[in-house]
Amino acid sequence: MGSSRWKVAAVVLAIVGSFLPVNADEHEHTYKDKEEVVLWMNTVGPYHNRQETYKYFSLPFCAGSKKTISHYHETLGEALQGVELEFSGLDIKFKDDVMQTTYCEIDLDKAKRDAFVYAIKNHYWYQMYIDDLPIWGIVGEADENGEDYYLWTYKKLEIGFNGNRIVDVNLTSEGKVRLVPNTRIPMSYSVKWKKSDVKFEDRFDKYLDPSFFQHRIHWFSIFNSFMMVIFLVGLVSMILMRTLRKDYARYSKEEEMDDMDRDLGDEYGWKQIFSVSLIVIIVAMAEDLYTERGSMLSTAIFVYAATSPVNGYFGGSLYAKQGGRRWIKQMFIGAFLIPAMVCGTAFFINFIAIYYHASRAIPFGTMVAVCCICFFVILPLNLVGTILGRNLSGQPNFPCRVNAVPRPIPEKKWFMEPAVIVCLGGILPFGSIFIEMYFIFTSFWAYKIYYVYGFMMLVLVILCIVTVCVTIVCTYFLLNAEDYRWQWTSFLSAASTAVYVYMYSFYYYFFKTKMYGLFQTSFYFGYMAVFSTALGIMCGESCVCRELQKPDSTARLLVTAFVRKS
Ligand SMILES: *[C@@H]1O[C@H](CO)[C@@H](O)[C@H](O)[C@H]1NC(C)=O
Repeated sequence: MGSSRWKVAAVVLAIVGSFLPVNADEHEHTYKDKEEVVLWMNTVGPYHNRQETYKYFSLPFCAGSKKTISHYHETLGEALQGVELEFSGLDIKFKDDVMQTTYCEIDLDKAKRDAFVYAIKNHYWYQMYIDDLPIWGIVGEADENGEDYYLWTYKKLEIGFNGNRIVDVNLTSEGKVRLVPNTRIPMSYSVKWKKSDVKFEDRFDKYLDPSFFQHRIHWFSIFNSFMMVIFLVGLVSMILMRTLRKDYARYSKEEEMDDMDRDLGDEYGWKQIFSVSLIVIIVAMAEDLYTERGSMLSTAIFVYAATSPVNGYFGGSLYAKQGGRRWIKQMFIGAFLIPAMVCGTAFFINFIAIYYHASRAIPFGTMVAVCCICFFVILPLNLVGTILGRNLSGQPNFPCRVNAVPRPIPEKKWFMEPAVIVCLGGILPFGSIFIEMYFIFTSFWAYKIYYVYGFMMLVLVILCIVTVCVTIVCTYFLLNAEDYRWQWTSFLSAASTAVYVYMYSFYYYFFKTKMYGLFQTSFYFGYMAVFSTALGIMCGESCVCRELQKPDSTARLLVTAFVRKS
């Protein structure tokens, strides 16, 4: 229990620590001859679900005799991703070869054998770190008819060094031993140091897979989406040019033209999730974040918290403009919708995990940390943003009087119904991103490291343009049918992209992954639901805000046109 309290302190400290850009005290990545090199044991988990992980020592492996731990670090991102480094107890020194040495023995009783057999049946892999370089190894193997199970007992490490730095690590598993109850299984290791020409900056290159990520298909899809953007922008400008110009000239000849010129383009409704995605991608591009465990997630949480005022500002001003009165409620929903959704899903999945495996629960300290961030960072910042938003841009400034009594909506064709428009609206944005989705899913669920953030950035920009165009067109059709319910329709017609993404994730699950069982299924679909919802809100908000924030935006013009017509 003492150690768990210590851990809480460590995690709370780490929240602060993980937000600082450098952690120079942790790893200089340079070694003197014979200096201690730590082999950290991280996790084990099924090969087919990279995200389902357990502590290495949740399997009855044994540790070496060496006990001193010179350093241990854990950032918030690591804690949330289940990174849990534990010292292997192996004695490794820089440039000091070790012949095959037994470091411990496993006393294999019935229960331990069952645990190993379960892991081997489920294709468990384990992960270790040396000097931040990940190493994967397979736990064991079954023979063809699945009756005998074998454990790999000999870890053969080959470490490449360049000057005083470690640049390359290879692990070969040898020493297959059959699992027979009530025997002792010796575990052994050896270390061989080799001179290597790999530059320190390039040492992560061997984990990247250019032939996968920079495949022709990827380039082609970007090109394809780009064509779609040109087509859509053309379509929208045609609508705006021809029809609207005419309408506009008819309904408001005089003074409003000036307003339009003034207001077009000086307000952008990009809100929080979009800002977060953009900033994280930019940081990832600049910093090669994939080389640090969990730093991507830490960055995302940090940026999410830091951009809360943006959320508050636009939420508050939009709500006030629409004449909403219960702004405290709106603020709470705005602040906690995403965190609550993510935490709720994580909690639910952990609950199933506890029920099934009794080995993975949310660490208590991490939970405290996340709550602290929600209440002491996100909420106050949101409050500031909301108050600013309500006071600075909360006045409804429709260019004309809006009828208090809604006009009856005339009969119209089925495809002009809001529900149909909403369904159709998501198709094009989805079309522009689904290939990218494939790459993102694959790097999340399988052992591939995503590194082509330039692509992701392009796709995000394309998605944004396509969404804006599509919602303009949707709103135009809806208002043309003299239907005034355009606000939510325009939001949902963009947000429906997420429904298609979620449907795509079903396809991905059945045809591209080999997950099975209730636990993996709920794990997969739970996190996919969170991802899709966040994506949907992002698409939705990029449309509504753009449309509403500009006093003379297209939608406004259209509203004006129809209000006047009546
Ligand atoms: C690790 O394996 C790769 C590929 O087999 C090889 O090119 C490299 O030299 C090895 N590194 C070390 C340190 O043995």
